[in-house]
Formats: sequence, C-alpha cells, structure tokens
Amino acid sequence: MHYNDYSAQVPKVTLANGMQIPAIGIGTFGSDKYGAEVISEAVYGAVQSGYRLIDCATVYTNEDKIGEVFHKLFENGIVKREELTITSKVWNDQHREVEKACRKSLQDLQLDYLDLYFLHWPFPNYHAPFCDGDSRNPDSRPFSVDEFMDTWQQMEHLYDLGLVKALCMSNMTIPKLEAVLPLCRIKPVAIEMELHPAFQQRALFDYCRAHDIQPIGFCPMGSPSRPERDRTPEDVAEAEMPSIAAAAAAHGDHPAVTSLKWAVQNGQIPIPFSVKQPQYVNNLKAAFMDPLTKEEMAAINADDRNCRLVKGQVFLWPGAENWEDLWDLDGKIVEG
Ligand SMILES: NC(=O)c1ccc[n+]([C@@H]2O[C@H](COP(=O)([O-])OP(=O)(O)OC[C@H]3O[C@@H](n4cnc5c(N)ncnc54)[C@H](OP(=O)(O)O)[C@@H]3O)[C@@H](O)[C@H]2O)c1
Repeated sequence: MHYNDYSAQVPKVTLANGMQIPAIGIGTFGSDKYGAEVISEAVYGAVQSGYRLIDCATVYTNEDKIGEVFHKLFENGIVKREELTITSKVWNDQHREVEKACRKSLQDLQLDYLDLYFLHWPFPNYHAPFCDGDSRNPDSRPFSVDEFMDTWQQMEHLYDLGLVKALCMSNMTIPKLEAVLPLCRIKPVAIEMELHPAFQQRALFDYCRAHDIQPIGFCPMGSPSRPERDRTPEDVAEAEMPSIAAAAAAHGDHPAVTSLKWAVQNGQIPIPFSVKQPQYVNNLKAAFMDPLTKEEMAAINADDRNCRLVKGQVFLWPGAENWEDLWDLDGKIVEG
C-alpha cells in the first residue's frame, strides 16, 4: 500500500513541561471488536502516514503486538523512537504495584521509556476486559484521596527513575482535581477525558487549561463502535447534530472528520481510533486541512448535548446509586 507521510503538516502542542507533542494521535482500544493483530498493523500504517502520537494502555490487551510493530518501525528506519510520543496507562488492578505495571508495559511495547504515563481511572475498581454493562465487582470502593495519592506517588517514582517522561491522569472531575493537585509533587501535564461535540465538558476543559494541563480527548468521534456496555437508548450520535451535519456537508467531510476538526481547533488533542487506512489518513488530515469557520465552530460549541458515553457503571461500588456517582455532578466528591 502507498503512504504519504503527513507528519510535517501536523501541528504541535507544547505541554507545561516543554514537551512538544502532535495535535492529534491514534487510539488503540479495539472496543472489544478489533483484535491485537489488526490494531497493531494499523499502527504501522498510521505511523507511515504521519501519526506520531500513539495512545496505548495495558487494559487494551494488545501492547505486546504493538511493541512488535514499534520494533519493526525502528528497525525499518520508518521513524526514530524520539520522533514518537507513546503513552500507556496503569490499569485499576495495579494501583498498588505501579512500577511492576509500567515495567510490563515497557517490556511489551519494547521500549526503554514512555513519553506519557496515565493513571487510567482515579480508583482501583477493576473490571475484566470484555465484561458486560451489568457486571459489578464487590471489592469496588469510592474514590479516596489517600489511595489516589499513594498511587500517584508511585507514578512520581517512575518519573524519578526515568521510566516515563511525564505523568498524566484520566477520567478525572474538578472536585477530584481540586483535592489532589495541591498534593502532587509532580503535576500532570495532560488529562484524558471524553470529549466530542455531543459531550464537550466545558467546565472541566476550562479548568484543565487554567491549570496548564492539556486536555486529550477520547471517543473524539462519538465512538460509533463502542462496546455494548457503553450504549444507552438516549445516546446522541454526532452525525445527527445539525451543527455537525451542516459543517460536514459544507466541507464534503464525513461527520467523524468534522468532529476531529472541531476538536483540534477547540484545543484538545483528539486520539481517534481506526484500523481502516482511508479513515485514519482522513482523520490525520483533519488536523491541518480545510479548517472549520468561526461560525461553524460557534454553532458546534452551542450544540453540546452533555451526552457522556463512557459512563463507567462497571466501576460502581456496592451501595452506589448510579453511574452519575462516579462523576461528582453536584460539585462534591461522592463518598461511599
Ligand atoms: N482514557 C480512557 O479512559 C479512554 C476511554 C476510551 C477510549 N480511550 C482512547 O481513545 C481512543 C478513541 O476512542 P474510541 O475508539 O472509543 O472512539 P472514536 O475514536 O471516537 O471512534 C472510533 C470509531 O469511529 C469510526 N471511525 C474512525 N474514523 C472514521 C472516519 N474517518 N469516518 C467514519 N468513521 C470513522 C470507526 O468505526 P468502525 O470501526 O465501525 O469503522 C472507529 O472504530 C481509544 O482507541 C483509546 O485509545 C481512552
């Protein structure tokens, strides 16, 4: 297959610690639909096309295959290690053994260091890969500042060891950030959060920007292939939003591409997933070609539906009422 390398055209974003990373990356979570082989092959093609930011995680159960691909990419001279920004994340069952988790990811990914290392969820509540939406773990418990900080200090140790270049959080809320940021010796440079036109999380987004934390947007196209456990009848699809449909038609784009243009122009770093070459190439080009107008951006901003897709209900603890308890909606951390 022929690949144009668009890496030079992709804008860069500077993080609080001075690192420069691409304004768009590629996701590697197969949504329980795509296997490790096909995802890792797509990573090879994506890097050939110019992606330089690859979003990995232990729980995606494909880091070993992606590691083989990194090895091939370096060996074949397609890219140098230092040209890539590679992330991984500590999963919820490893909050008490973060160094072991990180070393396993490094081994699987065949790397000496990670660029960004994320605390994937702010509590140690575990669900098995491929579980269904009704599954609950009786050991789950509510967020605890002490437990969180114990895990974060282990992450800080990884930084001291030189195993990771920067630390990041994911699936946070403003009340949780207010509680932990003053206690962090090393602040997070980025936070992964669900961000797409139907779920803009404006307050959290603005809070992160005000604290020099770069938002990285997951499910940036509304995750149309997400697992069954993350689907409800009320969910809004981006293509049904008039602001997205109008901008997509005006530019001759797929609504997914419009969502990515909005993301990059809004200031988050989207990490779209795709294993299909025409899709992932179009997604990359969304970061620099034929931008949306000011009016189109304003119309999308005004069309927010507050539609969270990854509700996290599988992480609820015994006695918790519903998924909203995970997200501190009334401004206070929900306790057990
Ligand atoms: N930190 C966290 O807790 C967290 C949570 C969720 C996700 N993530 C990360 O975020 C990444 C992205 O999220 P996601 O995969 O859930 O959602 P997404 O990127 O919004 O959606 C991916 C799906 O969109 C479709 N698509 C992609 N490009 C397209 C295009 N140009 N035109 C039409 N359809 C297109 C594909 O569907 P088809 O395959 O059906 O064609 C693809 O599977 C994940 O891979 C993962 O790395 C992180």
